[in-house]
Formats: sequence, C-alpha cells, structure tokens
Amino acid sequence: MTDVTVHDKIFTTFISAEKIQTRVAELGAAIDRDYLGKNPLLIGVLNGSVIFMADLLRNIKTPCEIGFIRVSSYQGTTSSGKVKNVIGLDDNIEGREVIIVEDIIDTGDTAVYLIEEIKKKNPASIRFATILLKPEALRQPVKCDYVGFEIPPAFVVGYGLDYDGFGRNLADIYQLKS
Ligand code: IMP
Ligand code: MG
Repeated sequence: MTDVTVHDKIFTTFISAEKIQTRVAELGAAIDRDYLGKNPLLIGVLNGSVIFMADLLRNIKTPCEIGFIRVSSYQGTTSSGKVKNVIGLDDNIEGREVIIVEDIIDTGDTAVYLIEEIKKKNPASIRFATILLKPEALRQPVKCDYVGFEIPPAFVVGYGLDYDGFGRNLADIYQLKS
C-alpha cells in the first residue's frame, strides 16, 4: 500500500496500473468482437477520459475514429438549478456506431444526459464505456456496456481522474483515505 498526497488530501493505492492495463486490454478485445466489420467512433468526455481513451484505443484493432466532447455544468437562472451543456458535439455522427468513453459513472446523471444529447444526432447505435462504475451511487439506471471495474462509492483519483484538477497523471487509481 502506497499513500500519495493530492492537493490537500491523502489517498491510498486502490487499483494498480498493471490491473488496469489487463482490464483495458479485455475491454478492447470485447469491442473488437462486438464491432467486427464496423468502424466505431469513440467519443471521449474531457478531461477525465483522456488516459483511458488513449489506452483503450491502442487495444482496439478494428478500424475506428475518435473525437472528444466536454460537459459543462453551471447554475441556471431558473429554479431548475444545475443545467448542463455539451461542447464539441458534431452533427457528423449521424449513422455512426458511437461509443462514449468516460472515466467514471457516479450518480449516472452525466451518462444519461450525454446519451440523450447524442441520440438527437441520430447515430446508428450508442454504447457506453467507462473505466470505473460506482453501482451504489447510481441515482438512475444507466446501460453501461464496457465497465473496467465496479467500485464502492468512495472518492478516487488517478488514471485521468482528478481531485480539484490534480492527480490525473497518476498511473494507478487511488482511493481517498478516510
Ligand atoms: P455523475 O454524473 O455523478 O455520474 O458524475 C460523473 C463525473 O463526476 C465524472 O465524469 C467525474 O468527472 C466526476 N466524478 C465522480 N466520482 C468521482 C471520483 O471518485 N473521482 C473523481 N471524479 C469523480
Ligand atoms: Mg468526467
């Protein structure tokens, strides 16, 4: 067990880089099987997905393309409260086999919102890939097709995931030390 300090909190080793690489190779192989003869378009959600996207991509042998989007949240002026917005979603995904690539599904709100927004662009299909899923934190059902690891609802950093912007560069995944 190794501890690291990220920003002002202490985190401890949770999933090793080696375990992550083995699992990502399995996910790449599953995508190859599912998309035989097709050219999927992987859409990464910035910033958290960059590391997973780069590794997943190198484990896919099927010809594929990538793109990136960003989700911004802000306080709306109406009583609806938190409103989200997708940046960088092109119209040219019509008829494409889309795979959304995320770092983590926590409440599931972002995933559900993204699937709805991407559906509006009429892709041929939409699937969802995430390196981490917190099943106990889900507030609504999310159909997640490629899950790296199911984890308990504790805060994690590393492998693209951040705490206040830091920790994304850690090769292993770390859990907040309580
Ligand atoms: P959701 O909409 O609640 O599923 O949240 C998804 C987003 O929250 C992810 O894309 C992350 O950016 C962030 N997030 C949720 N849990 C964690 C965590 O444990 N560490 C770092 N970021 C997290
Ligand atoms: Mg994210």
